[in-house]
Amino acid sequence: MNTKIVSITEDNIDPSLIKEAGEIIKRGGLVAFPTETVYGLGGDALNADSSKKIYAAKGRPSDNPLIVHIYRLEDLDYIVKEVPEKAKKIIDAFWPGPLTLIFEKKNTVPYETTGGLDTVAVRFPIHQVAASFIEAAGGFVAAPSANLSGRPSPTLAKYVREDLDGRVDMIIDGGNIPIGLESTIVDVTRDIPMILRPGYVSKEMLEEVVERVDIDPTILDASCKDRPKAPGMRYRHYAPKADMCIVRGEDKKVIDKIKELVSDKDNYVIISVDEHMKDYEGLNTKNIGSISHPDDIASNLYRILRECDDEEVTYIASESFDDKGIGAAIMNRLIKAAGHKIINA
Ligand code: TXA
Ligand code: MG
Repeated sequence: MNTKIVSITEDNIDPSLIKEAGEIIKRGGLVAFPTETVYGLGGDALNADSSKKIYAAKGRPSDNPLIVHIYRLEDLDYIVKEVPEKAKKIIDAFWPGPLTLIFEKKNTVPYETTGGLDTVAVRFPIHQVAASFIEAAGGFVAAPSANLSGRPSPTLAKYVREDLDGRVDMIIDGGNIPIGLESTIVDVTRDIPMILRPGYVSKEMLEEVVERVDIDPTILDASCKDRPKAPGMRYRHYAPKADMCIVRGEDKKVIDKIKELVSDKDNYVIISVDEHMKDYEGLNTKNIGSISHPDDIASNLYRILRECDDEEVTYIASESFDDKGIGAAIMNRLIKAAGHKIINA
């Protein structure tokens, strides 16, 4: 397949290109597009064959459900049975935005899209290119992250090309992605909403609008034996090719431990916060951002993991980060990338 690459950014939305992208979806094709979280690999959510194509293009197991993206709130009723009261409050506060909600699905959504589940994940992105594209595509776009299964989600169009060139009809290059980690997923079919995947919208933020929100206990605790509730969280994901570990503890001990770990390695990288770069002088480091700007750490993480792959790094030792707010999402992705290898310094 020949993949057409076009550039459509939030400050330059070309209506004819958006229309062309939308037509591809309506005809049953696939288009990768930017959102505020990561790039998505879109197909018609209401067309079972399109969803099958998405799984094939990504090399993803078909029991791992897709998120349905909408561009206006009034379309929600067409695909979900009921919007519970707490869900309404959450929607009021955070939609459009980097938050996915799980509802009971209506028959309008094929089981191919939901991986056989009776629930459907719905997201209403705020990114203007995504919104225009979803509208042109008919209003319901199923989209996983636009990476090959098992690779970090793409935060730049060049990474989408690396993974999907020749596998999709079009890639929309929307430039840099603002957040860089996938949306928060909240199951609102429960009495007490539960976070299935942490993201930019944190537990603390959600608890400002509904009094209590649980978090799937498997998410941050590597020793927990239960299966994560979001099927996609069960696979080894977001994984660089290198052997990777996370070192946690007091700053000085962490730095010393990391130096010791890399001392007999050749092709290694240390992932460090800006504040500690001077402590690793002469060693191979990647600066993930300042402790005081966790948003930067979030937006740099996947790029750094991809760079490690491109540079054929074989060993990565990463510092550990505070897990409050967006830190919960950062640590969740980091722990998965490291295949749960955590060393206490
Ligand atoms: O930020 C995002 O959410 C990006 C952009 C493109 O919107 N999309 C994304 O999709 O991250 P994906 O497919 O890579 O991750 C979707 C996650 C998977 O872990 C999947 O198992 C979970 O959502 N999921 C989808 N439907 C579900 C459902 N009905 N119940 C529980 N988990 C569900
Ligand atoms: Mg993904």
